[in-house]
Amino acid sequence: MLSFLYLALFVALPFSQAKLHRSKRSTCKLPSSTSSSNPQPTSTQSSGSRVAAAWYAGYHSSDFPLSSVSWNKYTHLTYSFALTTGDTSQLEFDSSDATLLPQFVKAAHSNNVKALVSVGGWGGSHFYSANVGSAANRTTFVKTLTDFASKYDIDGIDFDWEYPNAQGIGCNVLSPDDTTNFLSFLQELRQDPVGKKLILTAATSVLPWQGPNGSPLTDVSGFAKTLDWIEIMNYDVWGSWSDAVGPNAPLADACAPTQDGSATSAVAAWTAAGMPANQIVLGVPAYGHSFYVTKTAALSSSNAHTLNAYPAFDESKQPAGDKWDDAQGSPDGCGGTLAAPGGDITFWGLVDAGYLTSNGTAAPGIDYRFDACSQTPYVYNESTDVMVSFDDARSFAAKGQFIKSQKLLGFSMWEAGGDHNDILLDSIRGAVGF
Ligand SMILES: *[C@@H]1O[C@H](CO)[C@@H](O)[C@H](O)[C@H]1NC(C)=O
Ligand SMILES: *[C@@H]1O[C@H](CO)[C@@H](O)[C@H](O)[C@H]1NC(C)=O
Ligand SMILES: *[C@@H]1O[C@H](CO)[C@@H](O)[C@H](O)[C@H]1NC(C)=O
Repeated sequence: MLSFLYLALFVALPFSQAKLHRSKRSTCKLPSSTSSSNPQPTSTQSSGSRVAAAWYAGYHSSDFPLSSVSWNKYTHLTYSFALTTGDTSQLEFDSSDATLLPQFVKAAHSNNVKALVSVGGWGGSHFYSANVGSAANRTTFVKTLTDFASKYDIDGIDFDWEYPNAQGIGCNVLSPDDTTNFLSFLQELRQDPVGKKLILTAATSVLPWQGPNGSPLTDVSGFAKTLDWIEIMNYDVWGSWSDAVGPNAPLADACAPTQDGSATSAVAAWTAAGMPANQIVLGVPAYGHSFYVTKTAALSSSNAHTLNAYPAFDESKQPAGDKWDDAQGSPDGCGGTLAAPGGDITFWGLVDAGYLTSNGTAAPGIDYRFDACSQTPYVYNESTDVMVSFDDARSFAAKGQFIKSQKLLGFSMWEAGGDHNDILLDSIRGAVGF
């Protein structure tokens, strides 16, 4: 089972995190002053409190400005992304992001929300391995990040390394020593007077990170001691790289035709490796994946307008998603261009494109199926032959109930700006019990 899930990881690599936002990137030189030499007692998050979080993509701020964030419904917001660079003493930002970050931190603090910054992402993890690759680099990287945290007055850092010792976007530096070095780096960061006070989190794949032998780590207790929590990115489990249309973010998959990963199996795998449930935040998606599916494949032959489960799709006709989707021909993050659109469509994009009404239910004339096994919905437009696997209020409620019953720490939504009228956010908050 585990080895099967592990194989699946390579075809189900999360595409959502960085969105290849490579235009107009500028290098942000960090200050060289040393931080406070007055050590403080370790103060990480109080274990009794729950996390209601989301990532805020700085590169979507023109469509989703800071003033549109429902600050009072969150405990933590994570600004995305600071990108790793080939110079361990520097991080990079999109040019607009560096000016927005101080406003983000100010808005968060004035709303009593903790402000974190995510380092890496799908398109920003190229140099993680090198940045933690030697004792000297780890010391430099600790200083880079603590200076950065002090400069911007942030409360925490989210490590979104996609992925230690496993290829993500296609051109990342990798080493068999990645997880060992990552842990050594985190331990050194915790020794730092600034680092010990920061909230430290990590966005992870559905299986524990890959150890030196290329298999998922069987003991992550060292990470549990140094990180406040992890966010399991339980999305992009099925997508255009799969054999059939399947759930973007399955809650469970024991009853599915193949076991490609789910919130249930991911939490089981991480807790078995030593990550306590109360240090696990479930990553939840405010978007879905689109597929071109013929009516013959999509529709039941006996029941008009009834959708089949796991239909085949036509790979050669990838539909475009919404305006935030990566267009065909845009940079692929490794020096090339994308041969097809990404096909990602946000929850608001589903409303805009007419699949859903403004209250988030299927629009008249749109076929809808709620998959009992994965606890996720599908919509299908019979005139365009486009099917979308996504999450709605019902699936977010199911995920919230799971968080509550498994005594997980909370949720984090990718991304805050993907929701529509807080339909998803309100649903999961209510189910978790905020
Ligand atoms: C240390 O970082 C530098 C860049 O700052 C990089 O060139 C070098 O390869 C790194 N060392 C290791 C062992 O990864
Ligand atoms: C959502 O909107 C549709 C059409 O506008 C309406 O028929 C339906 O009752 C609404 N559902 C809820 C839960 O408000
Ligand atoms: C299906 O998509 C087409 C093209 O976007 C749109 O015109 C049509 O209204 C959609 N069908 C329904 C039932 O919404």
